[in-house]
Amino acid sequence: MLTTLLVVSNLVVAVALILALREIQRRRERRKLQGLFGPWPIRKVDVDQFDSRFALGDLGPSKDSEIRFVPTYHVPEGIGDFETWVICNLAKDARTIFEFGTGTGKTTYLLALNSPPEARITTLTLPMAEQGHQGRFYYEGSEVAGKIEQQLADSKTFDEAPREAAFDLVFVDGGHTRSYVENDSRKALRMVKPGGFIIWHDYLGRRVKDVFEVLNELSREVDLVHLANTSFVAYRAPPRE
Ligand SMILES: C[S@@+](CC[C@H](N)C(=O)[O-])C[C@H]1O[C@@H](n2cnc3c(N)ncnc32)[C@H](O)[C@@H]1O
Repeated sequence: MLTTLLVVSNLVVAVALILALREIQRRRERRKLQGLFGPWPIRKVDVDQFDSRFALGDLGPSKDSEIRFVPTYHVPEGIGDFETWVICNLAKDARTIFEFGTGTGKTTYLLALNSPPEARITTLTLPMAEQGHQGRFYYEGSEVAGKIEQQLADSKTFDEAPREAAFDLVFVDGGHTRSYVENDSRKALRMVKPGGFIIWHDYLGRRVKDVFEVLNELSREVDLVHLANTSFVAYRAPPRE
């Protein structure tokens, strides 16, 4: 009787110990994904290591990486100048580009300006009324306006199914709350072509908490890199076999 009691109580203690250890492990994992200690979870890579178009010579980037450019100076919510150089270089051989979140339309304009003449850029943003302003877009009236298709909708109602594997480059920079980052990321992963790129903006740690956490979680399923000196996270879809 005593032996049975001892065995049972030892078992209970062992199970409790295992559960406690699991809980500690689970919390540690969660803190890691929240970037609460240690380096950020997504591996940081220099752009010249990421893709040969950013290769450095003795005197810096190659002239092949020149782009047509206007600076971020006084552009609300825009991407940085170095980020512009990176994404416009990725656009140079992209024939189909999709942007979640048009903002002022300045990045849209630059993507159109730096992509091949036959390229088509689709950009999706909330209807003007929901954005709280009667906006115009930067690209309107420009030489490249004809390359751009503007869509006005909430990205949760946007149907990506007809555009599966249709885009060489997808830029995710729309709603920044968890459910929207998850929605847009899942759709982007369906929409990118084999060998194409997805770029997310605003991987900035706790400052943009939901983007940070969703991307950290996603990095456990797909191979993401954080491009050094930018707030970009990049994914290159495996090429077609
Ligand atoms: C940070 S700005 C985009 C900046 C732009 N990509 C650039 O580089 O200049 C975010 C944009 O996403 C749009 N947006 C926010 N929530 C959205 C949603 N649910 N669906 C579509 N667009 C959304 C906003 O209206 C805003 O124009």
